[in-house]
Amino acid sequence: MEIVPVTEKKKRYLSLLLLADEQESMIDRYLERGTMFLLTDPEAVAVCVVTDEGGGVLELKNLAVTPERQRQGYGRRMVDFLRERYSGEFHTLLVGTGDVPSTLNFYRSCGFRPAFVRENFFTRWYDHPIWEDGKQLVDMVVLSMELC
Ligand SMILES: CC(C)(COP(=O)(O)OP(=O)(O)OC[C@H]1O[C@@H](n2cnc3c(N)ncnc32)[C@H](O)[C@@H]1OP(=O)(O)O)[C@@H](O)C(=O)NCCC(=O)NCCS
Repeated sequence: MEIVPVTEKKKRYLSLLLLADEQESMIDRYLERGTMFLLTDPEAVAVCVVTDEGGGVLELKNLAVTPERQRQGYGRRMVDFLRERYSGEFHTLLVGTGDVPSTLNFYRSCGFRPAFVRENFFTRWYDHPIWEDGKQLVDMVVLSMELC
């Protein structure tokens, strides 16, 4: 298993990115300015994109594990990798997600804690209603983790 940066042709992994963020125009808002990593084992299993939000804050904008390899620890490994890679360089790692128990459980289990809410994020910025686990997403829940 290895995790490597992807600096060119990031859209090669669009099908993975769309698992975490289903509207391509929203992905376009952070993909080029963000830093992307790919986890292979041995084929492509997971991707993530992080952005420098200024003031020592890094934000995880996209994290996706291919469906047949989910619940095998790859998502957590990606978060652990980010924590190690960016400790010392940033003081906080944020992640924003829908108010959905499965995803919130995942991020809590990785060490994130709820920080604040971006009200109406999904209804304001997406051009269609976003549904997850049978629920329409409205607010974005932002969780945070200290990097030391
Ligand atoms: C969310 C996601 C990144 C998690 O990655 P993963 O590799 O499947 O998760 P892991 O195997 O590392 O899970 C670690 C822990 O998180 C929790 N967890 C993960 N998925 C969960 C789920 N669906 N329901 C409840 N808890 C979950 C569990 O505690 C799990 O540990 P366990 O399997 O020993 O019980 C992955 O499921 C995914 O890509 N989903 C689709 C895209 C997405 O929703 N991305 C996040 C949007 S911001």
